[in-house]
Amino acid sequence: MLENPTRGYAEQSEAKRYTITAALPYTNGPIHIGHLAGVYVPSDIYARYLRLQGNDVAFICGSDEHGVAISMKAKKEGITPQQVIDKYDGIIRQSFIDFGISFDNYSRTSYQIHHDTAQAFFKKLYENNDFIEEVTEQLYDAKADQFLADRFVTGTCPKCDNPEAYGDQCEKCGSTLNATDLIHPKSTITGETPILKSTKHWFLPLERYQDFLQKWILEDHAKDWKTNVLGQVKSWLDDGLKPRAVTRDLDWGIDVPVKGAEGKKLYVWFDAPIGYISATKEWAARVGKNWEDYWKSNDTKLVHFIGKDNIVFHCIIFPAMLKAEGTYILPDNVPANEFLNLEGNKLSTSKNWAVWLHEYLQDFPDKQDVLRYTLTANAPETKDNDFTWKDFQARNNNELAAIFGNFINRVVVLTNKYYNGIVPTPNEFTEIDEQTLAELKAYPAVISSSIERYRFREAQGELMNVARLGNKYLADEEPWKMVKENPERVKTQMYIALQIGAALRVLSEPFLPFTACKLSGILKTDLNLRWKDVSERTDLVPAGHQIGQAEILFAQIEDADIQKQIDKLEATKVANKAENKVIEPQKETATFEDFSKLDLRVGTILEAEKMPKANKLLVLKVDTGIDVRTIVSGIAEHFSPEEVVGKRVTVLVNLAPRALRSVESQGMILMTNNAEGKLVFVNPDADGVNNGALIS
Ligand code: 2FM
Ligand code: ZN
Repeated sequence: MLENPTRGYAEQSEAKRYTITAALPYTNGPIHIGHLAGVYVPSDIYARYLRLQGNDVAFICGSDEHGVAISMKAKKEGITPQQVIDKYDGIIRQSFIDFGISFDNYSRTSYQIHHDTAQAFFKKLYENNDFIEEVTEQLYDAKADQFLADRFVTGTCPKCDNPEAYGDQCEKCGSTLNATDLIHPKSTITGETPILKSTKHWFLPLERYQDFLQKWILEDHAKDWKTNVLGQVKSWLDDGLKPRAVTRDLDWGIDVPVKGAEGKKLYVWFDAPIGYISATKEWAARVGKNWEDYWKSNDTKLVHFIGKDNIVFHCIIFPAMLKAEGTYILPDNVPANEFLNLEGNKLSTSKNWAVWLHEYLQDFPDKQDVLRYTLTANAPETKDNDFTWKDFQARNNNELAAIFGNFINRVVVLTNKYYNGIVPTPNEFTEIDEQTLAELKAYPAVISSSIERYRFREAQGELMNVARLGNKYLADEEPWKMVKENPERVKTQMYIALQIGAALRVLSEPFLPFTACKLSGILKTDLNLRWKDVSERTDLVPAGHQIGQAEILFAQIEDADIQKQIDKLEATKVANKAENKVIEPQKETATFEDFSKLDLRVGTILEAEKMPKANKLLVLKVDTGIDVRTIVSGIAEHFSPEEVVGKRVTVLVNLAPRALRSVESQGMILMTNNAEGKLVFVNPDADGVNNGALIS
């Protein structure tokens, strides 16, 4: 169990209040490494760091349980939407706990508090005349007797021609769409082409906020927001904002709370971000705080952590909603990440191309920090990035174990060996000691600067430099050589090395919380040590303090463990290929007479050689049971001659002979493709079948 990072920290007078939100995951599938790298690991680093700085932090998340994605999953699995959300909320919630994501509250949008909050929000905007009420023609699937929006409809994106765009968004070019924008729309429920049918909806007129958004984001935040975020916002604003429907004709979601809207639901992207507010309310009531301090006070810094596909909702639509409501603060930053790929391919839930968090935790139950470290080292902060299992292994073995683990191990083993684990009293510091301590004390500011600019990858790199500083100090000073001739000097050296170890305990907490916790147990450091203590104190572990025994922080990851994961992905590839295999349409009907003309026999290949000057052809001698004959087969690019000798095959023996490069071929060997697309023999391997047996 992780120690509660907030335990024992009295709030400081200069403490700031932060509301940190992490995108609410849809409960239509488990969490995978793409979600972790893009949203949950960086937001957790940020929240833990701010708490270590003594700030007042509300780190908020929860399950996003409405929307078409949930209804579709329920339809596919033949269960109710409620069963779908309960199942995945359970899996997601537990995997976040086991992975050490330190949410102050993880809520659910199916909770009553959220329905009430979202409806009250809608009502206020409705009463303020912030919506346009309009009857428009929407796509309708007559067969399913249902309006189609969002993921219930696909078609060609009008902006980039992607033929698989959804009714709310094109995943190829990132455009947010209305279902009626799609070219050649098709219902994902029945495959039918939808018709247009009139229905009344409420629209948020985004164009009313165009000037405000332009100034607030593109001018006021031009310097501190990420360029990928500014770029998307600019392209939206340049296109000119248009009204956006915030209600839907669906049977799963939050009821629209006004007269004349019976049977209609709130658009999921209207209710989901309000989920951050409901989750804060729920948490505040539980811990005796005032939720409004976290959403309505100008002293509070609001930061939304999201992936790039959520930018428009958090930078345009939700701010427009907050602005319309009028009493809320706006985000100080929206540090959206790009996407993470897996072994060179796009992560995909439907293709099962993912490393699922709950499965990872089963396979590597004590290696949460290795995944956190690898995902941060490869964080898709400015461009899409790739996760590979080989890199994961190398990050553990060559960095975490070889640099961080090795340093701690040397310090702890030597302290136990020389002083029975009691921190020695140092003597006078040399110039090297002073310089090392000065370097150490500079790190908190360096790491802070990177974290506060949302550069977590860079920040983690600096953390590893602290461990490198420790290794260099020990390697240069060589206390193990000096201990006999100058034991007093070694006391000072070990004292300094121990301070670096204790600094690592504090500074690693945001990035490697399980390791920091273990390190607390080994060094028995004061749990109240804060970030700034590393730069202000030279006695993080004081003389006379008793430390514990060495423990392995990062065990080696063996090739076999990695191979297992690679094999799992290979199996996924094979399964996908088999599923997507194009089944050739059935050929024209053949009469029995047609079929009985074919003389198919079981045979064995006796000899094989390459046809000279022909890349594709093998010349085979085949025992057909009737005779041994020559057959020329176009399989040389798939099989070597040696491989095929002895193979039992199916032979069409009465095919009219044909000369291929002056060799007469007297028949044909039947081939097919296996699930991986590889050419294989149609192999009559039934027991006791002799050559010449007729296939009929
Ligand atoms: O893209 C998604 O997975 C959404 N469920 C994110 C919602 S974020 C917020 F607005 F709730
Ligand atoms: Zn597109």
